[in-house]
Amino acid sequence: MQIGILGNGNLAVALGKAWAAAGHVIVLTGRDPDRVQAAAQQVGASATPVGPDQFAGRADVIVVAIAWDGLEPALSIVGGPQGQLAGKTVIDCTNPVDFATGRVRLESGSAAEVVAGLVAGAHVVKALNVFAGASWPFTGDPDTSPVVAVCGDQAGALDQVASLIADLGARTAMVGGLATARQIEEAAGFVMRLVAVGANPRDAVPDVDPRLLSTGRANE
Ligand SMILES: NC(=O)c1ccc[n+]([C@@H]2O[C@H](COP(=O)([O-])OP(=O)(O)OC[C@H]3O[C@@H](n4cnc5c(N)ncnc54)[C@H](OP(=O)(O)O)[C@@H]3O)[C@@H](O)[C@H]2O)c1
Repeated sequence: MQIGILGNGNLAVALGKAWAAAGHVIVLTGRDPDRVQAAAQQVGASATPVGPDQFAGRADVIVVAIAWDGLEPALSIVGGPQGQLAGKTVIDCTNPVDFATGRVRLESGSAAEVVAGLVAGAHVVKALNVFAGASWPFTGDPDTSPVVAVCGDQAGALDQVASLIADLGARTAMVGGLATARQIEEAAGFVMRLVAVGANPRDAVPDVDPRLLSTGRANE
């Protein structure tokens, strides 16, 4: 698959490397050609830097790996509001979060819904915003692989994203429609807040086995 990554920062490079290792072709773009070129070099030989005007035509799936403050200008330079990404799956990995406090910087709604408003006709899926890019690819025991919570409204796009998540060595949990994306963004803020106070987020949520819940044995 040709994966178009909008962004040239840490997450763009980490995901680009992981998907390139899984056999995908990576296309990167951003506002600064030199930084895009440098990111493509870091991803490796299967990555091509392209100008924002060529981006939509070169990508089957789009990944948004942009800082919250840059979302609107970044999606504008690739023609999102003009419908250049129409019909494509757009994976929103962003966190509208104050990194110091973990607070979500939106009074209501979510970054994913902001993205949806900036990519006319595209199918937005919220995913991959909670785990650090350095988590990928996961190469350990598949039974303990990370579970990536995903939100979206279009079945084909959700299937495509689940397949790309599997290529990272992870599992997918479809947790709802795009209108529920704020909860996953809040979760990213919660994770940051725990790390900031020296706790491992993995230890801060209950270990609940849904198979035991369904048999009524969860409290045994
Ligand atoms: N890093 C991770 O492990 C990780 C994991 C999950 C989710 N995320 C989320 O992914 C997003 C990117 O994170 P990152 O760590 O890759 O950040 P980063 O290394 O700081 O990169 C930020 C990216 O956003 C672009 N950008 C910033 N302001 C812009 C503007 N005004 N107009 C256009 N582009 C702009 C930057 O382009 P320039 O270089 O041109 O400034 C760069 O490509 C964030 O929303 C973050 O919360 C990150």
